[in-house]
This record gives sequence, structure tokens and C-alpha cells, in this order.
Amino acid sequence: MKQNKLIIALIAVTIIFTACNEKNVSNSVNNDSLAAKVDSVLSLMTLKEKIGQMTQINLTVIAKGPNKWASNDTMEIDFKKAKRAIVEYHVGSVLNTVNNLAQTPRTWFENISDIQRIAMDSTKIKIPVIYGIDAIHGATYTDGATMFPQQISTAATWNTKHAFNMAKVCAYETRACGIPWNFSPVLDLGIDPRFPRQFETFGEDPLLVTEFGKAMIAGYQGKYSNIGNENVAACMKHFTGYQATISGKDRTPAYIPDNVLYEYHIKSFKAAIDAGAKTVMINSGIINGESVHASYKILTEILRNKLGFEGVILTDWEDINKLCDRDKIAVNRKEAIEIAINAGIDMSMVPYEYEEFTDFLFELVQEGKVKISRIDDATRKILKLKFELGLFETPVTNYQDYPNFGSKQANKLAYESASESITLLKNTNSILPLKKGSKILVTGPNSNTMNSLNGAWTYNWQGKYTDMYVDGIPANLMATYGKDGKSKVILDNLNPKAYNTIYEAFSKSYGPENVNFLPGVSYKKDGAFYDMKEEDIQKVVDASKYHDYILLCLGENCYTEKPGDLNDLNLHKLQLKLANKLSKCGKPIILVLNMGRPRLISEIEPFMSAVVNIYLPGNLGADALVDVISGEVNPSGKLPYTYPAFPNSLSTYYYKPSEVQNNSQGAYNYVGELNNLYEFGYGLSYTSYEYKDIRLERDSLKAKDSLNLSLTVYNSGDMDGQEVVQVYVSDLYASITPDNKRLRAFDKIYIKSGESKKVSFSIPVNDFSFVNNENKSVLESGDFTVHVGGNSKDLSSLNFFVR
Ligand code: BGC
Repeated sequence: MKQNKLIIALIAVTIIFTACNEKNVSNSVNNDSLAAKVDSVLSLMTLKEKIGQMTQINLTVIAKGPNKWASNDTMEIDFKKAKRAIVEYHVGSVLNTVNNLAQTPRTWFENISDIQRIAMDSTKIKIPVIYGIDAIHGATYTDGATMFPQQISTAATWNTKHAFNMAKVCAYETRACGIPWNFSPVLDLGIDPRFPRQFETFGEDPLLVTEFGKAMIAGYQGKYSNIGNENVAACMKHFTGYQATISGKDRTPAYIPDNVLYEYHIKSFKAAIDAGAKTVMINSGIINGESVHASYKILTEILRNKLGFEGVILTDWEDINKLCDRDKIAVNRKEAIEIAINAGIDMSMVPYEYEEFTDFLFELVQEGKVKISRIDDATRKILKLKFELGLFETPVTNYQDYPNFGSKQANKLAYESASESITLLKNTNSILPLKKGSKILVTGPNSNTMNSLNGAWTYNWQGKYTDMYVDGIPANLMATYGKDGKSKVILDNLNPKAYNTIYEAFSKSYGPENVNFLPGVSYKKDGAFYDMKEEDIQKVVDASKYHDYILLCLGENCYTEKPGDLNDLNLHKLQLKLANKLSKCGKPIILVLNMGRPRLISEIEPFMSAVVNIYLPGNLGADALVDVISGEVNPSGKLPYTYPAFPNSLSTYYYKPSEVQNNSQGAYNYVGELNNLYEFGYGLSYTSYEYKDIRLERDSLKAKDSLNLSLTVYNSGDMDGQEVVQVYVSDLYASITPDNKRLRAFDKIYIKSGESKKVSFSIPVNDFSFVNNENKSVLESGDFTVHVGGNSKDLSSLNFFVR
């Protein structure tokens, strides 16, 4: 009997594999035949095998060395451990790296080949493992990968092509490592400048997040999500409301009414689902007292049923355990598993105690507490993903087939994105650009480090080894590069000095004889991201005498997640001290802001002649900065968030009218936009633009119509440039208090000096609907205003009426 079953199983699997062997078959099969294949594999599986598919483990669990976050071990599979997990426990997915550090594509290939060999040769059903990784702004955990600007910088370009390019290059370089699944993009709304992951978002506006998110999905998954060997499956995250906590700290409680979730937070996910996003990761936090991983309503009713998501739902790190260990909504880990799987989780990023997860889930099914149909449903989705990724035919892609890994062309695309993102916030008396030959004193803790240019998720989780990577690897980290040293080849082939710090880029561009560097204050090497030390402030003050300009590079060191939580939004006091001292030297100061969130600078901003926000521009960021400062590039970045002026005045540009209150005697204090330092959408250029002939085709419209708007932008300055035309709409009166205004369209256009360009927009009137307190999307008739301009404050407005 047993024997027969095995023979049938083998025949079935052979049929499946033969069917998949023709090139791209698995990519082009229609849904029906895909479903049939999935079902035939499923029909061969035992309950334990299915549960194994729902289990994701950290690589350290099956690698040589201790199973802990950081060690000094090389990346090598421990066959005994791996067989136990993959063969005995049928584990179907692995994530992350060893020692929390980057590896060469070759090392990746060798390790993933070992894993797949075990899965394909030693198991009964031969289901390939799906490997997942965080490749957030380039292939994070790969030596020599092209590091683009982070998402917040990308959003500051207001040009979605850069999100597409980043994702396309990242997919290619991730596949060059044999990895087919990327935990990106972040579609969270970056509404809170205090939150430690705002830089991972596309900023505060739902439309920007939506449009950039769609571009990234297309870059990752390819046209029509027909995934080939240069694409990866995207994982939109963290569904949903992740960054809207009360405290501004990571993974702390949020209170979000449903209509607010729908109106602002869910839109980008819905668009990504419609664009074919294959997987989703769940918000690790708590909304309205309910851990999101435990929420049947959010996972099944909303994500599955309402939004129609058919892909794989993955937990975030250890989040099922957290239902018990952290949130205290399950009395033990077994109950936590019951709650999460029944809520709709398909795969658990366990990531360590996989025996516990699989055994408990098995018992829960036996006890009837989790239905087998739920297990089948989850397994089906995971198998489907593995088929769609072509893993049955090619369990691991080979780095040798990816000759463009880390190429010049890829780095050029990263540079272009950085140069379009840099945002000029102040330029008193057109002090910028600075002529060649100017004597520049470069100072501040961000002047001479690659860590802060890249931020977290760069060769390491917190990004704190980037300087070492870019400068070659120090002996104490050599252990991670393979005992024979061969895995280091690719890094050696790249010129590690190809990337410049700000100081290096200025020295190269303006000449070493003109540029000097003194840090003034610096980040402590092994401390928390906010730990700083004073170096030589007086020396900087003295040296300023011999220079024409001070380039003051301030901001933050790298961080993400809990380690990046913040108690004070003001810039670090030592940095303020340096700025204050320098402000008395009588030399013009160009303030460069290099940070993951808008830290408060109101105390020093008045003394600055110019302010340039570079956010986290990646490996090519300093080159882009010097090109902007020298005028080779005309800045065209615009803020993707509101830059606050005060710690107690944090609001998005789409605040409610009551945020700005005054009585006729001016007796109340204003809050809201008047207290911002710089508005959302703001950013200066070296040229000037005039908006003319703003016309509406019609000003009385029905719900099914579109608002047709045209205008002409004239470049009245003497430099060619790119302008971001922004269109906002205000619903003047509504049944719940309306947003002040909302971005409804934007376009980035190139205009030569002295020339004009006509721009038109056609925006469906239905876009002006809102989600009311009954959670219904409604369009209410009445008066509206459309505003057009180059930022969210200086706008020309026209009224229209919706019948
Ligand atoms: C983060 C996720 C990430 C995951 C896997 C979590 O701590 O919240 O964004 O994808 O770890 O590394």
C-alpha cells in the first residue's frame, strides 16, 4: 500500500516536472493549468509537509556556527541541521543571511544550491525552497551590489521612473544571488517624522506612495508580472497602518478608525494588488488594541475578501510568538499560532523555533482548532508562488548568468536618481551654485562617511559597516568571506574606492587644494545611532577663516526599526552647538541635511545661507550632491513630507481645517501649516518657473466625468531645469470634515531656459470621493477647488462644481 502510494506520487511529480521543463512554461501557463498543477502537488502532500511549506526559518538555523544574530562565521550550510529542517520538518522557506552581513553572489549561489539540493534530492515530493531577503534599496546583503537612494529619496524625485529602475536593477542583482523573493517595497504611509522607518517609505502622501509603489512592483516582477529569471516576487509591506503609532515608536499601539485606514493607508496596497504584487508582509504592530497578526478582520475580511489579494500572506519577524510573548493576547505560543493562522496567515517567519511552530500547528489541526481547509489554502498559495517563480525548473539561478551585476550602467541609474532627489530648501541671494575654485571647509559628522549616505539595509541590517565595505574589508570581518578567500573575488573586481563620501567628492570636484575637512563632532563608532562625541569645534571655527564657504553636513547616523526609536526630534545638541558656533564666524554656511527623517533644525536654520536636503541618497549620493552644489545639475527634488518646525506641531499637508484656528482678534495660536519649516512638495531650483494659462475645460462636472486641466509652465530663469507640476484638490464642504487639500496628480517636466511647456491633466472626478464614517467611499456634490503649482503652498486656484 505504502509502496503504491509512493509510485503514484513519483509518477505525478514526474508529470509535473516534465510539464514545467519547457522554457518559461511555468510563467506562461494560464491560471487554470497552474491551479491544476498546484492541486496535483497538494494532493500528494501529508499534513506535516503542508505545514512545513508554511514555515520560514532564518538561515542561521541551518548554517554552520551558532544560531544567533551575529557571529564570526562564514556562510556555509550545515547539512545535518539543514536535513533536519528541510527533510524531517519539510520547511519550505528560508530568509536572511549569516552574521547579518553581505555575501558575494557566488557564496549565495553555493549556499542556496546546497539548500535546494537537499529539498530536491532528499525529500519525497521535491518542492524547492523559496528563499526571501530584504533588498530594500538595492541588494542589501550582497557585496558589490548597486545601492540606490532609499525610498524616501526616490520619492523626492517625484519621478516614478527611478523607483522602476531601482527595482529592476535590484531584482536582477538579487536573482544574481539565486534569491527569487524580495521583502520590498514598503508601502507604509510615512506620516510621522518621529518614526524610525519613515525613510523606508515614499513619504506622507497616499498618491505618491501608490504611484511609486506600482512602479516598484513593475520593476521587480516585470511586465504583467510574468516573472522571469531577472525578476523577483515583490512583498508589499507592512499591511497596514504600520507607521501610524501614537508614540512615534516602532511596533507600539496605533488607533486608526476603519475609514482612516481605507482613505489613506490601504490605497497603496490596493493599487499594488491590482498591479499583481505576489506577496504581502503584515504590520508587526497593534491597531485599536488588536495585534494585526491576530486580526481576522484585517487579514481575511479586508485583505483577502475586500481587496481581493490572492497571494501569500507572510508574518513579520517572530510575530506569531509576539501575540503571546509581547502582546499578551494568547496565553501560550500554541494559542498564538491558532489565532494567527485562523486570522489568515499563510507563512510564518518563525524564524528560529521551527519545531515548536510545526508541531503545535500539527496538533491544532488534529484537535480541530485549525481547519485542514485553511492549511490547504495557505499551502496552495505558497506552491503557486513557487511555480510562478519557476523554482521547480530552476531552483537556483546562477551568478555567472548575470554579467551586469553591479555594473557601471546600474550605478549610473542610482546616480541619476540621487541627483534628481536632492532638494534645495533655501538659497539666500542665490549663493548656490558655488563656483569652481571656491575654498570650502567641509565639516560635521556626516561629511566623511558612507554609513549615513546609505542608511540601514546596506550590506547589513543597521547599515553600520558600509564604510568598511566600501573601503575594503577589515580583518575582523574576513571570516564571513569564505575560508579560501575565493568569495571575495567580486568585491575585488569592483573598485571599492568607486564611492565617495561628501568630503571625498568635494575634494575631487573642487580640487584637494581648495577643500579641507574637520569633523567638529562625530558619531561614536560602537554606540547607538544617536551617540555622538565632540571632536574639535574650535579648530573648525579657526579654520573657517581660510575658506570662502562652510559646507556643514549634519543629520543622523544609520538606523532602522527599534534601534532607531527617538526621544527627541531636535537635531542632536552637539550638532546644534557646532552650527551655532560656526554661525558666528562670518562665513556663509551651506547646510547639508543627511538624515532618514526631518530632524528639527529651527534653531539654526536662520543662520544658514543655503539648505540642501539629500535624505539618504545611497553610494552615489555625494557625487550627486557636489554636482548640484557646483551647478552641473539643476536641483529638482521636492519634499515628499512636511518638514516640521516644532516638536509639538507635526501634521501632514492634508490636515483638517481645525488644525489652523484663529478668531477675528487673532487670539488663538495658529498650528498647522504656518508652523512648518518647509511645506510638502517644496524644493527650489536654480531657475524660476511661471505658471500661466491655467484652464479648466469645464467647471461643472458629474461623477463620471474627468476634471480636464491645462496650463503652461514657462522657464523664466537662465538655466534648463525640471519642474514638478503638482495638482491639489480641496473638497470645500463635506459630511465629515474634509482634508485641507489632497494631491491628485503630478508630472515632472523638463523645460529649457526661456521656453514654455504645456501640461494637461485629466483626473476622474471619482478620485475626489472620500471614505465616510460608514466606511463607504462617497462623492458628495458641491464646491471644489483645484490648486496648481510647484509646491503645496504657492498655488493658483480655480473653483469647480460637482453636480
Ligand atoms: C522587519 C521587516 C523585514 C523582516 C525580515 C523585520 O524586523 O520589520 O521589514 O522584512 O524583519 O528581515
